[in-house]
Amino acid sequence: MRVLVTGGSGYVGSHAVRELVAAGHEVIIYDNLSTGNRKLSDGFELIEGDIADGEKLAPALDRVDAVMHFAACAYVGESVANPRKYFKNNVESALKLMDAVLKSKVRKFIFSSTNSIYGIPQVLPITEDSPKDPINPYGATKLFFEHVLQAYSASHGLRYAALRYFNAAGAHASGLIGEVHDPETHLIPLVFKAVLGKIPPLKVFGHDLPTPDGTCIRDYIHVSDLGEAHVKALEYLANGGESVSLNLGTGKGTSVKEIMDSFERLTGIPVPHELAPPRAGDPPALFANATKAKEVLGWTAKRDLDEILTSAWKWQQRLEAANYQL
Ligand SMILES: NC(=O)c1ccc[n+]([C@@H]2O[C@H](COP(=O)([O-])OP(=O)(O)OC[C@H]3O[C@@H](n4cnc5c(N)ncnc54)[C@H](O)[C@@H]3O)[C@@H](O)[C@H]2O)c1
Repeated sequence: MRVLVTGGSGYVGSHAVRELVAAGHEVIIYDNLSTGNRKLSDGFELIEGDIADGEKLAPALDRVDAVMHFAACAYVGESVANPRKYFKNNVESALKLMDAVLKSKVRKFIFSSTNSIYGIPQVLPITEDSPKDPINPYGATKLFFEHVLQAYSASHGLRYAALRYFNAAGAHASGLIGEVHDPETHLIPLVFKAVLGKIPPLKVFGHDLPTPDGTCIRDYIHVSDLGEAHVKALEYLANGGESVSLNLGTGKGTSVKEIMDSFERLTGIPVPHELAPPRAGDPPALFANATKAKEVLGWTAKRDLDEILTSAWKWQQRLEAANYQL
């Protein structure tokens, strides 16, 4: 199949593109390069454009069978400081994308949703039916767009997969692509930056939390596992599958301390860190129940924490050697 990949020059999208091609599909990347990087699309057709630009989208949509929509603003903290930016891009512009899709023949749509739609869970692990009560504008925009998909699916014959990622991490096995966010807010790249002396010692927010070692627990999922799930979701929809919302996680929580300990075990390098109070609104633990994705797509995460850390560290060292110039 041919797929239009919005946000394919970003972190998760660029990995999904490679999994699609590895599975025999064709891709056209559509990206405005606002947070993405042209280098991550090397070797692929890239249309430089904004998802709000229906005129630019129309001819691209005529050439594809499905859309994968990764393009969004995706910093939780920034969404609190500047919610307008988030509602504008993740909702208003995304609605324009949907207008263009509905004007085309494309009726298969895969959306990058997030565990942020659940807010602070009352019960763990989080299932797809857990209450949805986002605690930041980012999560609210993503939940809003899921409602859009639900409604359009009922009225316009669209079929969609809303894939709710937990914490994307790791890098491609080739070592050629990986995470480059500026500012960096994700734990694993921050661990590396602290090790490399690029930032002060890592701040470990919360050390006497109600978790086994007192530090914060999250569900880290390898970005190539996410990519593979997108391929399965595409094939599921192509085979007539009904619209569906799925958690994409490993089902296993990993603490900040476990990440630092694993990094030291793998590399022999201790992670410089200091303990800090927990951040407001940061739940002590979040992890997925990922059984529905297994039932519906036959997908489970294959890569473990060691593979996440090893691949991401390899990528970080490449970035460092290139002085962060891709
Ligand atoms: N990284 C994670 O841990 C994570 C977790 C849950 C959900 N997500 C979601 O996955 C998606 C990808 O996240 P990421 O970490 O790869 O982010 P990213 O910033 O690396 O990628 C986003 C891409 O979208 C492009 N883009 C943004 N707005 C656009 C617009 N209006 N028109 C065209 N292109 C535009 C950017 O240039 C960038 O290439 C996002 O929708 C994000 O909300 C990410």
